[in-house]
Amino acid sequence: MGKGFYISKPLGFVLFGLGAGAVLTIFALSVVYVQEKRKNEVNARDGTRIVTTAAPHRTSAPSNEAWDKYRLPDALLPEYYNVTLWPRLVPDEEGMYIFTGKSGVVFTCLKETNLILIHSNELNFTLTSEMHHAKLTGLGGTSAPAILETWFQTQTQFMVIQLKRKLQVGKSYWLYTEFHGELSDNLGGFYRSEYTENDVKKVVATTQMQPTAARNVFPCFDEPSMKAVFHLTLLHPPGTVALSNGMELGTKSFTIDNQEVLQTRFEPTEKMSTYLLAFVVSEFTNIRSPPEANILIRIWGRREAIESCQGDYALNVTFPILKYLENYYNTTYPLSKSDQIALPDFAAGAMENWGLVTYRELSLFYDPKVSSNEDKEWVVTVITHELAHMWFGNLVTMRWWNDLWLNEGFASYVSYLAADYVEPTWNIKDLMVQQQVQKAFDVDSLVSSHPLSSREDEVITPDQIDQLFDTITYSKVFIMCQKQLEITLLSSNYLHEYAYSNTVYTDLWKKLQEVNSSIQLPASINEIMNRWILQMGFPVVTIDTRTGSITQQHFLIHPEAVVDKPSDYNYEWFVPITWLKSGSNMGQHWLLTKTASYEPMKTDTDWLLANLNVTGYYRVNYDPQNWERLLTQLNSDHKVIPVLNRGQIIDDAFNLARADIINITLALRTTKYLYEEKEYIPWESAVRNLEYFFLMFDRTEVYGPLKAQPLFDHFKDITSNWTQKPPRYMDQYNQINAVSMACKTGVKGCSELTRMWYRQWMKNPDTNPYGKFEFSDSVQASSSLSRYLEYSIDPNLIRKQDITYAIVYIADNVIGQPLVWDFVRANWDFDDGSFFSGGLINGITKKFSTEFELQQLQRFKEDIAASSFTFDMQAIERAIEQTKANIKWISENKAQVMNWLIEQSD
Ligand SMILES: *[C@@H]1O[C@H](CO)[C@@H](O)[C@H](O)[C@H]1NC(C)=O
Ligand SMILES: *[C@@H]1O[C@H](CO)[C@@H](O)[C@H](O)[C@H]1NC(C)=O
Ligand SMILES: *[C@@H]1O[C@H](CO)[C@@H](O)[C@H](O)[C@H]1NC(C)=O
Ligand SMILES: *[C@@H]1O[C@H](CO)[C@@H](O)[C@H](O)[C@H]1NC(C)=O
Ligand SMILES: *[C@@H]1O[C@H](CO)[C@@H](O)[C@H](O)[C@H]1NC(C)=O
Ligand SMILES: *[C@@H]1O[C@H](CO)[C@@H](O)[C@H](O)[C@H]1NC(C)=O
Ligand SMILES: *[C@@H]1O[C@H](CO)[C@@H](O)[C@H](O)[C@H]1NC(C)=O
Ligand SMILES: *[C@@H]1O[C@H](CO)[C@@H](O)[C@H](O)[C@H]1NC(C)=O
Ligand SMILES: [Zn+2]
Repeated sequence: MGKGFYISKPLGFVLFGLGAGAVLTIFALSVVYVQEKRKNEVNARDGTRIVTTAAPHRTSAPSNEAWDKYRLPDALLPEYYNVTLWPRLVPDEEGMYIFTGKSGVVFTCLKETNLILIHSNELNFTLTSEMHHAKLTGLGGTSAPAILETWFQTQTQFMVIQLKRKLQVGKSYWLYTEFHGELSDNLGGFYRSEYTENDVKKVVATTQMQPTAARNVFPCFDEPSMKAVFHLTLLHPPGTVALSNGMELGTKSFTIDNQEVLQTRFEPTEKMSTYLLAFVVSEFTNIRSPPEANILIRIWGRREAIESCQGDYALNVTFPILKYLENYYNTTYPLSKSDQIALPDFAAGAMENWGLVTYRELSLFYDPKVSSNEDKEWVVTVITHELAHMWFGNLVTMRWWNDLWLNEGFASYVSYLAADYVEPTWNIKDLMVQQQVQKAFDVDSLVSSHPLSSREDEVITPDQIDQLFDTITYSKVFIMCQKQLEITLLSSNYLHEYAYSNTVYTDLWKKLQEVNSSIQLPASINEIMNRWILQMGFPVVTIDTRTGSITQQHFLIHPEAVVDKPSDYNYEWFVPITWLKSGSNMGQHWLLTKTASYEPMKTDTDWLLANLNVTGYYRVNYDPQNWERLLTQLNSDHKVIPVLNRGQIIDDAFNLARADIINITLALRTTKYLYEEKEYIPWESAVRNLEYFFLMFDRTEVYGPLKAQPLFDHFKDITSNWTQKPPRYMDQYNQINAVSMACKTGVKGCSELTRMWYRQWMKNPDTNPYGKFEFSDSVQASSSLSRYLEYSIDPNLIRKQDITYAIVYIADNVIGQPLVWDFVRANWDFDDGSFFSGGLINGITKKFSTEFELQQLQRFKEDIAASSFTFDMQAIERAIEQTKANIKWISENKAQVMNWLIEQSD
């Protein structure tokens, strides 16, 4: 599935750069809301929860019966399905949108059994003449046992068919059902998405199966290793087009109950997992690749969006990306077509359904008139991520969800390589450290983190599976994506050997080990990698250049946090230490024990820098003398140190200070050289880290020492007085830091500049294509924010997929934060609590730093614990832990930080 969401830099800048006037704030909010529905800490799957409806069911106390276990038994293996579905795009007499279906599956019996368990959830079945919910036929002359009884096991989401006698090993059977379900608006399973075109409401029927919703659409063996071929047929109204994983084979028209209906059949899919199925019925239009491309590529979306060329960028890049990936994986794209479709309502960023990739509109559409650079980068990296899955994930699939990280992590990594191929001038690979590694560091330095790889038996229920879609899964895998391992992986025949089947991560280690390329490893791949994937967290490596000694320690951001999970590896890692000495001398050593000593790390006068280009997943600390030498180098000629490491020095120093490992003033001093710095990566690192100070102090003094004047002047210069775009891509990003820091710290000319931009923007408000809200000049900030909050739970005004982003964005505003907190406490039971998510709580409470706020949070926890809803209690626990840490941090550091800041301003 597509990755999480970023907050837009340009909009952050609008908000801060223009000051906190009511109108401006609201205006910024509305822009953010519509154009930038992405938010950093908001997980891709937040903001939605599947609403359940009743089905004929049986519940029983947990027992040892097969139907009370969540995993399928291994007695039956599906071969192919024939599925016909008919979504109704108008409500029935009761006002409900439904779909009807007929589905059959051919399966083989592998072990003797008189029980058929097949997933089915929230579907209502038509009874057969024998009064059963299904019909069983033997194939190849086998006679099928009669059905004794059929029922639905709600908890484990099974249809249970008890047979009068046993199925025969080696024989195949055909299990047939007819059913109907709700085409609801819950963004999961077969669901509906709505939009208006020329004032007419349009309904789209679409799907999101991953991870466990295929069972909500038709009865199926809904586990990733139960791969099968799917023959699909869709019925749909005239004027609509039906799409699925395979190419359309043809459309016929006929009449049912006096209505004209179209029937579209699709070519059979490859052998694949149920979670990769997709069906869409819509009035969308498309643009397609020229006939000479040997893969048919189509970009689908709302007529208006396609006609205004918003799909052009996606179409332009898709073919080159597929060609790049074919070459990269040394495997041809296995399908005859690649459809990509943008949906008005979509929960994640995108979904890699094989042959029919579904996207949020913002992840596929790019409009040069209104979209920012970051939007374009988002589009290209989401497309590359999803297309990378066509091989890694779809062709070769994890056996069970506990290895989801193999799919997601690798797709996230490859997305940068492919994006670099289609946008070679952007240097996009340099952003990996900041966007992935540092993001993983943040969550992985908490005691509430978890190992990358879970045991298969720890991830059983749909809720547990859902929770795997987190930052660790998507980003921590970058530990193994070092160039050397990557080359090894690609020269192994992993993809060829496991094509159309499933793997566990040890299959990958085995392949890597077999290759045994030129890389010198100090231990087996297994021994090295298990330490990184089977225990949570990562080390901080401390190098003492006075003695050459080097030690590792589990890095935890809260100094008093206690790790209560034991690790087989004792929280020690095999760490590849790469180093650079005074700009010339380079080397590498493996740290295999808690401490070691290496002669080359000893130095009296040279500086030593470790973790070159941050290719290792660890932080670095040094003896005070070496820190001083590094600072001296930064302040004299910073360019001797690679740009990624300049960002690393700042990020490591601030995090080490927060963990009480080094003095906070040392961290602050790493930012002094920025006076001379022009590059984006170090600036971004500083801005990101100072945000915590800003959150804790709410004072502009925090940014004072950054001395943004030279950077501001530099940009004024290279843009010819702000009349042109900076030439380099990273500079276009850094221009935003330059202007926002300059305005925050009162650099002369900055506020005049942003006011001028704002006036220009107001003259041309069409650049906000979705302007739905009316804002009056006279309203007070707080009352508008309150009104806006009320909008957020009105589904007519704000799409469900966007509620979390909208609320968290308001909470980021100083005036908005307390309002949001009151609002959430008053409305947490809205829509059965479906809008309440971990991302929301984190977004709202991250500034909490007083005893009063802590008490409120604790009371809130008690209130919801006493309620009947199932909330993410872990998120509240984390918020309490964070608030306590903030209170302590402020009490210990405030005076020292303020003193340093005051000294600098003299
Ligand atoms: C399933 O559909 C395929 C393709 O239409 C057809 O050839 C096959 O006979 C069907 N299988 C059954 C058991 O009806
Ligand atoms: C399925 O049956 C249940 C119980 O009769 C009913 O509440 C529900 O609305 C039905 N669902 C559909 C989609 O018809
Ligand atoms: C797509 O490619 C065409 C032809 O190279 C080019 O003219 C057009 O500007 C591109 N569109 C976008 C949005 O990149
Ligand atoms: C690509 O795959 C072919 C077999 O399909 C193999 O012969 C060739 O060596 C592979 N090339 C690389 C670079 O791995
Ligand atoms: C793999 O390489 C290592 C180090 O070069 C060597 O010690 C080992 O014997 C090799 N193993 C095989 C199976 O070739
Ligand atoms: C470090 O990354 C830069 C790009 O930021 C690259 O030019 C340089 O070669 C890399 N250095 C090493 C030692 O890999
Ligand atoms: C941190 O450094 C500052 C300035 O060098 C010093 O005044 C302060 O005492 C140090 N704090 C600690 C805890 O060592
Ligand atoms: C920018 O504006 C200043 C006056 O504000 C002027 O002196 C300078 O020549 C201008 N530079 C460019 C490149 O237009
Ligand atoms: Zn993915």
